[in-house]
Amino acid sequence: MAEGSIEIYESEDRRFPPPPEFAAAALTNDRSLYDEAEADYEAFWARQARELVTWSTDFDTTLEWDLPFSKWFIGGELNVSENCLDRHVDAGKGDKVAYHWEGEPGDTRTITYSELLDDVERFANVMKGLGLEKGDRVAIYMPMIPELPIAMLACTRIGVAHSVIFGGFSPDSITDRCEDAEARLVITADAGYRRGEPSALKPNVDAALSAGAPSVENVVVVDRCGTDPEMVEGRDHWWHEVMADAAADCPAEPMDSEQLLYILYTSGTTAKPKGIMHTTGGYLTQAVFTHKYVFDLKADTDVYWCAADIGWVTGHSYIVYGPLANGCTSVMYEGTPDTPRPEERGDDRASWNKDRLWDIIERYGVTQLYTAPTAIRTFMRWGPEWPAGRDLSTLRVLGTVGEPINPEAWMWYHEHIGAERCPIVDTWWQTETGGHMISPLPGVTTTKPGSGCHPIPGTFAEVVDDDGQVVTEGGGYLTLTRPWPGMLRGIWGDPERYKETYWSTYEGRYFAGDGARVDADGYIWILGRVDDVMNVSGHRISTAEVESALVDHPAVAEAAVVGATDEVTGQAIVGYVILIGSVEASDELREEVRQHVAKKLGPTARPRAVFLVPDLPKTRSGKIMRRLLRNVADGHQLGDTTTLADPGVVAAIREGAAEGDGD
Ligand code: WTA
Repeated sequence: MAEGSIEIYESEDRRFPPPPEFAAAALTNDRSLYDEAEADYEAFWARQARELVTWSTDFDTTLEWDLPFSKWFIGGELNVSENCLDRHVDAGKGDKVAYHWEGEPGDTRTITYSELLDDVERFANVMKGLGLEKGDRVAIYMPMIPELPIAMLACTRIGVAHSVIFGGFSPDSITDRCEDAEARLVITADAGYRRGEPSALKPNVDAALSAGAPSVENVVVVDRCGTDPEMVEGRDHWWHEVMADAAADCPAEPMDSEQLLYILYTSGTTAKPKGIMHTTGGYLTQAVFTHKYVFDLKADTDVYWCAADIGWVTGHSYIVYGPLANGCTSVMYEGTPDTPRPEERGDDRASWNKDRLWDIIERYGVTQLYTAPTAIRTFMRWGPEWPAGRDLSTLRVLGTVGEPINPEAWMWYHEHIGAERCPIVDTWWQTETGGHMISPLPGVTTTKPGSGCHPIPGTFAEVVDDDGQVVTEGGGYLTLTRPWPGMLRGIWGDPERYKETYWSTYEGRYFAGDGARVDADGYIWILGRVDDVMNVSGHRISTAEVESALVDHPAVAEAAVVGATDEVTGQAIVGYVILIGSVEASDELREEVRQHVAKKLGPTARPRAVFLVPDLPKTRSGKIMRRLLRNVADGHQLGDTTTLADPGVVAAIREGAAEGDGD
């Protein structure tokens, strides 16, 4: 088990008391959903599934639980794109806006439900024309443009499973994911706008496909930035050309409730990412239910904005499937929050107005904002007066996700953005859970700043100690005790790893990999990862992945990676590297090694700092003592780039190694 890392986020300030005036505000204390789920959680989910989702064939069995494999809503048939589109259009809401989309350069598109349906039908026909059939897999590597949800929904219409690959990932990651899923098609764009410039995507797909992934037969390319990428004759097709040729009608095919909906790769404790599998009926039910209740949705009037990227699960469930199935109007934004529209950009990038996020909230009248603690901490740094002069009065509910939020950031969000009026929902969940699991419900839960509070109705969590005994007050490991509709159905191609990773640590329990504390009032406080997974700005990256990218560099003999505490990003990646004997250490080499990781894994995984060291602290059995390295990293200025085989680091490592021998 993890080496005492449970302490790392624990601090006194986590016991911050709730502001009393807020606790009392607008609480209806309507506990009926909890009561109903408590009494019979299967019946509760069956009711939600029938009320919130449209089925072409009703299910006959709610749950089949053969630990650790679950099936939900057995016998039922439905189509996800029909739930997200057709049923709203059929109900006369075709003219309702599905997405207010805004590109980073300030171009906008307003897309109604019927327009979205038209494009989805056409693109589903494009895929059929390329020979794709129910059960096939398709990789999607795109910027945040409307064609991304269109492609995903088109897949669901014909029973093709998508595997969305985050646009910040490297060619190697694309090759690996396409090979693992045996994807037949890649959907991409020439580039997307990021920080004022086109950031190339298609060349990465080309590099990935020349390195491997022979299963890929075709590539469809959206011309987003006009960068004129190379097109491979016979393999590559322009989106606008194939769409112009496609037939307009493509009826939604009813799918079995357990039909594979998508695969999404996520980091675990080894170097190989896990293909998390989600299926149709259960996943959709949980996405719709949580989107509705956690964000206190008033579907007809709300303008909801989840500022995540669809490359992560947050975007799958809370930009695409949840909001669309609920028929709600969303904002979708392509770029970064500190990149102003071109007319507001000065010559000097440093003087750029960072106001974009609040500008968007004001212009579209956003009612719910869902973002990550890292973003909130970044805004806090931009100044106490932030966001001055913006009218944010339309906001009703504020959400956070991806990492523990410190009480200070929670309070800042509450005061500066929420005007002490908006409930804050701190939502704990994972790629594996498909939807929210632990979160306050607006109007029902009295929140405590920094706490996820309680499991949502119909889900069940307990904190246990090393021996698997339930902790009623104090720290331990977060586990889930009953199956839930949106739960992963396994790891693509590796059922053994599924059992081993999630179900073998504590008998009969799903082990989430997170530490948690239960306070005297029974509130749950998530403390962060306890395994070898780092959480950088809410992105999961495994130490093993980065280590294997480091040792892939020809000058590197051995490497150890830890997540150091970082004020803004939660954790920051720090690498300790031993060079091979014949190589001379230099700052240039160190930088080269650092960049090598970005080349292998993408910029998200680039270490904040790399230290060249003569030695690594190990236990007698040869296991690297990460806890010690983490302490060393925490004592360092990670931004400093002059440390070369830093004697301080080495001394600290040696000292600690001596002290901690036998760990
Ligand atoms: C962390 C993101 C504290 C946690 C939806 C989890 C959180 C991992 C929270 C999953 C939260 C997510 N408070 N920690 N509200 N939400 N986490 O798969 O460590 O990208 O295990 O899913 O993020 O990350 P993933």
